[in-house]
Amino acid sequence: MKTIFSGIQPSGTPTIGNYIGAMKQFISLQNNYKGYYCIVDEHAITVQQEPQKLRQQTRSLAALYLAVGLDPEKATIFIQSEVSAHAEAAWIIQCNTTIGELERMTQFKDKSQKNGRTGVSAGLLTYPPLMVGDIVLYNADLVPVGDDQKQHLELTRDFVERFNKRYAQPNQEILTMPEVKIAEQGSRIMSLQTPTSKMSKSDSNPKGYISMLDKPDVIRKKIKSAVTDSTGIIEYDVENKPGVSNLLNIFSAVSDRSIPELVEAYAGKGYGEFKSDLAEAVVDLLEPIQIRYEELLASDELDDILDRGAEQARLVANKTLQRMKNGIGLGRKPRRK
Ligand code: AQP
Repeated sequence: MKTIFSGIQPSGTPTIGNYIGAMKQFISLQNNYKGYYCIVDEHAITVQQEPQKLRQQTRSLAALYLAVGLDPEKATIFIQSEVSAHAEAAWIIQCNTTIGELERMTQFKDKSQKNGRTGVSAGLLTYPPLMVGDIVLYNADLVPVGDDQKQHLELTRDFVERFNKRYAQPNQEILTMPEVKIAEQGSRIMSLQTPTSKMSKSDSNPKGYISMLDKPDVIRKKIKSAVTDSTGIIEYDVENKPGVSNLLNIFSAVSDRSIPELVEAYAGKGYGEFKSDLAEAVVDLLEPIQIRYEELLASDELDDILDRGAEQARLVANKTLQRMKNGIGLGRKPRRK
């Protein structure tokens, strides 16, 4: 079986964008791949977090992984900071990555432009190597992510090629080359209020996103107030009708109806009916997830699964880390008795 790795930061409650772009793929792939699904809390601290809130969001995200249908019998679910190999590997990776590569990363460019280079944490520049480590430690063949992560995957592939070339014996490899898997539909869900920007869980305007834990009435209100246009025609045209096109993407992903099918079904109908049906489809998807989520949060089952997950993850990650250290010449060869 080939291996998958993917992670989400507990930097807030996941949005429907995180679900459609990433989580939905986790579920559809779990029967055919060995999966490692991580709550990447070390990534979340590149911006300052409130300690208690971070803890709560970490456990909450783990509960959501399970509530959407990840099966702990098939997949390893764990918290990044509970596996110390991630931080250790990140250092080795940083030392084999150039500052130029990191400064080209869109997220660093965006956030450092907004807040000034001196105003952002060094982690915002150096977190991509941490992400490279997340992927290589589990020998991942495939990484299911949203469209915004493509650049990180390119960095990972460049790093793997460089590392193997520098440190592996001829015709051998220390690290596995991963492939990226972007969702065919909904790989970039946009904000409901600014449909030209990505929907993000840390958006300061909660009307821009649907959180996976939003209650039905909140979902209905947010969709009702989603920005569209004045034509009243439901058609897919990202350039000229970004708002409606985004709603069509969401509708299609949550209902498993194709966009042409939806366009046909709503021909001649107004935005009101379309939005109200979309809201019900989102509520139908999220309500059972939320019920299961509440049960899991209140149970010991969740912590047992995370304890087991961390143990399983450590076994694999430590082996890869040791191979990296051996390749690079760190430490001594252990003296075997
Ligand atoms: N809007 C989106 N559409 C489709 N996929 C998305 N993803 C994120 N937003 C969308 C995918 O979700 C996974 C986890 O992302 P993350 O939380 O680790 O980081 P992110 O991409 O920075 O997500 P957010 O919601 O925008 O977080 P904040 O606001 O904290 O920066 C990834 O696979 C991502 O592609």
